Order: sequence, then C-alpha cells, then structure tokens
Amino acid sequence: MTDAPTDPIAGAEGGQRRFPPSEAFRRNAIAGPELAEAADRDRLAFWAEQARALRWERPFTQVLDWTDAPHASWFADGRLNVAVNCVDRHVVAGNGDRVALHWEGEPGDTRTITYAELLGEVSRAANLLADLGVRAGDRVAVYLPMIPEAVIAMLAIARIGAVHSVVFGGFSAESLRARIDDAGAVLVITADGGWRKGAVAPLKPVVDAALELPGERTVRNVLVVRRGGNDVDWAEERDLWWHEEIAAMDTTHDARAFDAEHPLFILYTSGTTGRPKGILHTSGGYLTQAAFTHRTVFDLHPERDVYWCTADVGWITGHSYVVYGPLANGATQVLYEGTPDSPDPGRWWSIIERYGVTILYTAPTAIRSFMRAGRAIPDAHDLTSLRLLGSVGEPINPEAWLWYREVIGGGRTPVVDTWWQTETGAIMVSPIPGITDAKPGAAQTPIPGIAIAVLDESGRPAPAGGDGLLVVTEPWPSMARTIWNDPERFRETYWSAFPGRYFAGDGARLDEDGDLWLLGRVDDVMNVSGHRLSTAEIESALVAHPAVAEAAVVGATDETTGQAVVAFVILRAAADLADADASPVLRAHVADRIGAIARPARVHVVAELPKTRSGKIMRRLLRDLAEGREVGDTTTLADTGVMRTIESGMRAG
Ligand code: WT7
Repeated sequence: MTDAPTDPIAGAEGGQRRFPPSEAFRRNAIAGPELAEAADRDRLAFWAEQARALRWERPFTQVLDWTDAPHASWFADGRLNVAVNCVDRHVVAGNGDRVALHWEGEPGDTRTITYAELLGEVSRAANLLADLGVRAGDRVAVYLPMIPEAVIAMLAIARIGAVHSVVFGGFSAESLRARIDDAGAVLVITADGGWRKGAVAPLKPVVDAALELPGERTVRNVLVVRRGGNDVDWAEERDLWWHEEIAAMDTTHDARAFDAEHPLFILYTSGTTGRPKGILHTSGGYLTQAAFTHRTVFDLHPERDVYWCTADVGWITGHSYVVYGPLANGATQVLYEGTPDSPDPGRWWSIIERYGVTILYTAPTAIRSFMRAGRAIPDAHDLTSLRLLGSVGEPINPEAWLWYREVIGGGRTPVVDTWWQTETGAIMVSPIPGITDAKPGAAQTPIPGIAIAVLDESGRPAPAGGDGLLVVTEPWPSMARTIWNDPERFRETYWSAFPGRYFAGDGARLDEDGDLWLLGRVDDVMNVSGHRLSTAEIESALVAHPAVAEAAVVGATDETTGQAVVAFVILRAAADLADADASPVLRAHVADRIGAIARPARVHVVAELPKTRSGKIMRRLLRDLAEGREVGDTTTLADTGVMRTIESGMRAG
C-alpha cells in the first residue's frame, strides 16, 4: 500500500484502502475460501449442508421448492423445534454450564444465565403458555424491555409452535394495537416498565391504553413481568403477573417438532404506505441462515467468544443476532437493557471491559455519536478483548468505519459491514472476516450461497461503477415467506419490479473490483438511526391532527442519525394552532401516535406543497430544501413558483 494516508482516520481516501485480516486471524478463522467454492459448485447442496448443522427430529430430503414463487419452501419435509435447537441441544451436548446470557440492567443490576438455566426458564414459560391456552399457530404479542424474559418469552412461544410478534417498546399504544389486531394476538407479554436514560419508562400502561382503543377483541390475557416497579392498573380477569404464574410451573417441557415451514414469527416493518407490513418468517430455513451467518460472519468460537449485539429484540437484528443466531450456535452473549450514555457516556465500554467482549455488533449511528463525543471516552477503558467488529442498519461512511476499527478495535480488528433487511431475515452481503480484504464503507460481497445483482430500471446489469438497484436473483433460506394477511402486497412490493427476482428497495453500485456499495433507499422509506420509517405513515399521523390540512415528510441527511425526519405541513385556515406553536405540538403528536422514534426533527409550516400536475407531492424538492441544497429541476411542477414561496416562508420562520 504505497499511497496510504499517514493519518489512519483520514477522510474520503479511507474508502480506497484495504485491510486484510492479520495472519493470526486468518489461521484461526472458522471459514476459509472453500466455503464460497462449495456454494458456487452447488448452491442448494451448500444450504442443505448448513441446514444439517441443526438438530432435525425428522431429517429433510427436499431442499428448495420454488414452484409457488414468490412463496418459497425450504427443507419442507423436515421437522424440528427451533427452541430445542437454541437451548436443549447445547445442554445435551454437555455445555449446560456455559453462560448463555450475561444480562446487565441499566441501573447496574445483573443476572447470569447458563444454558441449563435457560432451558429451565424456557420450559416453565412454555408450560405457562400452554396452561393459558396458547396453541401452535396462535399469535402472541411481546412488548418488553431488554430483559432476559424477552429472550425467554420468544423461545417459549417458538417451543410450543406459537408465533411471536415482538413490538419495539418505543412504539405507541396505537401502533401496538394495530399490530395486535393485524396478527390477531391472543396474549400480550409485557412488563410494568423498563429502565431507559435513568428512569422507568412505563410499558403496561401503554398496553392498557392500546387494548382500550376500538378494534378487534382477540387478546384474552396480558402477562406482566415485574421490572420497573412502577404502579400499574390491573384488570383482574385479564392480567397476570409472570413471576406468580411461572413459580407454579414445571421446569421440564416435552417439546414437539414442527414442520420446517411452520411460522416462527411476524415482525412489522415500515413500507411505502401508511400501513406497516407483517413480515412472516418460518422455522427451518430462517434458523439455518441466521445460525450460519452468525458463525461465519462473526467468526464465532462459541467456547471462548463473548459476543454482544446492541440491537433491541424489537427489531430484526435482535431476532436474528440476539436470539436465534447466537443461541443456535451456543454462544455466550451480553444483553444490556439501557441506553449507551446511562449513567455515563462510557457505559458500553465498561460493559465490554467487564465481560471481556470479543465481538461487537452495532449500528453506524451509534459509532458516529461516539465519534462526536471524542475518543477520550473509549480510550479510558481496556477494549483489548475485542477481536471483531460488525456494523448494520445503514451505510457506514469510511470515516466512521476507520474510527471504529482504529479507536474501538485498536487498529487490529476486522470490521464487517453487513447488509440485510427484515425481509431477508439474515445477513446477505458482508465481508467474511478471515477471507475478505476489507474496504471501508463497502459491504463488499454476497455471503456464500447468496446471489446478488445490481440492475438498471430495465433489468439489465448496471455498468461497473454505475448506480443501480440491488436485486437478489435466487431464493434464499431465510427469506420472508409472505406479508401476513396480504400475500398480494408481498408479490407487488418485492417481486413485480423484476419478475422472479427480489427487489430490495436499495440503491447500490458495483465498483471496479466487483465490491458492492449500498447507497440508501430508493423508495419512500427513511432510515433514522438504523430504524426504518415510512414517510407515508408519518404523513398520515400528521394529517390526523385537527389543525393539519396537508403534510409531506422527507428524510434529510443527518451527520449522526443518517437521516432525520423533516415535515412540511399546511395548517387549516380555521386551525386553532399558531404557526409558532405548530412545531412542538406536531412533533409531540407524531411521537404520541407512532412512537418517539418517528418524532420529526423539524416541522416547517408552509403555505403550499410542491406538486406535479397530477397532484403527486415532489418530495425530492423538499429534500433539497431540508438539506439546504439548491433546489433541483422544478419543470414538472404544476406551479413553478411554489418552491420560492416555501423557501422564503422557511427563512422567515
Ligand atoms: C434497510 C433494512 C438489517 C437489520 C437492520 C435494518 C438499510 C441495513 C445496511 C448496510 C447499507 C443498510 C437498507 C435496508 N441497511 N443494513 N450494512 N448498509 N444499508 O433492517 O429495518 O429491515 O431495514 O436498512 O436500506 O433496506 P430494516
């Protein structure tokens, strides 16, 4: 490397540098080049071999059935129990004393749970669910903080063949209720509250409010874990304390096997309309790819690694890389309840130091906020246990990649930038740490067994170095099977742009070396701090406010959060809301309707919105304004003067 910059945390040149794994890392890595060779030779045989790493009660003979495309079946004649694979299997293999979870609560309380203990807890919870009349195929909503019971509940639901729908604890009563109703959940598992930023954030009161809203009446019981100690109302016929009920349960539970295609979970995610999509994942294929990617991408040595993924179980990253992948692999992991800066900005680094974390998996937005706070904070901790770093959720800029490797990884660790989605279920594109020469800012290569292309809009390969659309050209084991209650939307959203191929909604580029760069969403989906939000969903929350006549929402580039939600609203003439009060009132209104993650960073009151002659709002122009850029081509506007009006209004405001 002759022209390497002298400053390792340089700017844009960072993207040109290569970081091969060290000789020692390569020697001890679990995955070598033979993996990709095997996948290239026979993709389906390769996935069958990965699937056989699981415990099957009835081995499969079929691999992929794609005759009902785009609804795939993988390993369809096999039967297994997902929870047995994640827990019992390790105890049977003699690893019952291995720590499964090093849990740390935000106030500093801790719990250590071995695989043998986890088996007892999951068994008791499975017995309790069965006692409450939950049957295979029933849906159970989970609305919990990051406490061991979240993991235990998910595994217990899977163990009896029920289907979990985990809803992130930051979502509002209304969002929770919409998800409960769409899934037809019979039970909600929640907590009184959980710790966040030094205080208890109530959860049970949100469930109460959700169930008071008009709608379906599918929920029979609410099971409440005591965590926050906050006061809660109690509906005698409906509500049950987890600790009281569980105490009477047997710690053994005879698990039965389910078909590989038995539904495992529904997870709601934002799309381009106001209505979230219930992404359905099933058992055998999902677990195969979650486990395979977790061990190869993170080079997991379960007998000695301490792994920490900082995602909440309310997101797909928490499903695949806190619960199913790591536990299927018998990993020891850290589970942390709170925020990175409570009670001090070094909290994460003291956790890494205390537990000797070797593998850290987090999001670029967190890395960038640590960068801003300065390296003195991590430098005050011993982070030498770390040997591998991962990134997920949004593109990682080369500067943040280099800082992560240099400051957190001590300049030694491979960094893997992993691209995937709620719909893909598991990692699809990532360097393999013992093989790939890492390139800062690029997700680089499809993992073995995955086929990716970058196409132009007509479906032809985009030229090298040119921008195109990311497409998956062959079905994969952990792919979403459908959208719950809406198979037509599944076909339309993902499979109609390029028939037979999966359209991810992301822009991408292949560089001269054949490495893949992700360029962000090409649809009306925003990415704020690695969380997916829909412009349409926030717009419909805004227009539901009596003072708002019209609203347009855009994701504007933000240095820390990737994108920030910026709203433009037209107030009703008769509105009882002064322009000056509109921003705080409407920001709070969106947080209340959807959840704090959707709260706009800015709300601009405008007199008009830019529209085409057919009445479509031109968000592209609003994004130019929100990012302080020269406004682009306005020739398709019905009224070309409208942008000047908005701009002068924004300056005045
Ligand atoms: C969207 C999926 C994958 C779990 C967390 C988010 C963006 C995700 C990357 C990455 C560039 C990324 C994409 C994708 N994204 N990872 N490494 N580089 N972009 O899951 O909520 O389903 O969001 O996140 O835009 O489409 P999700």
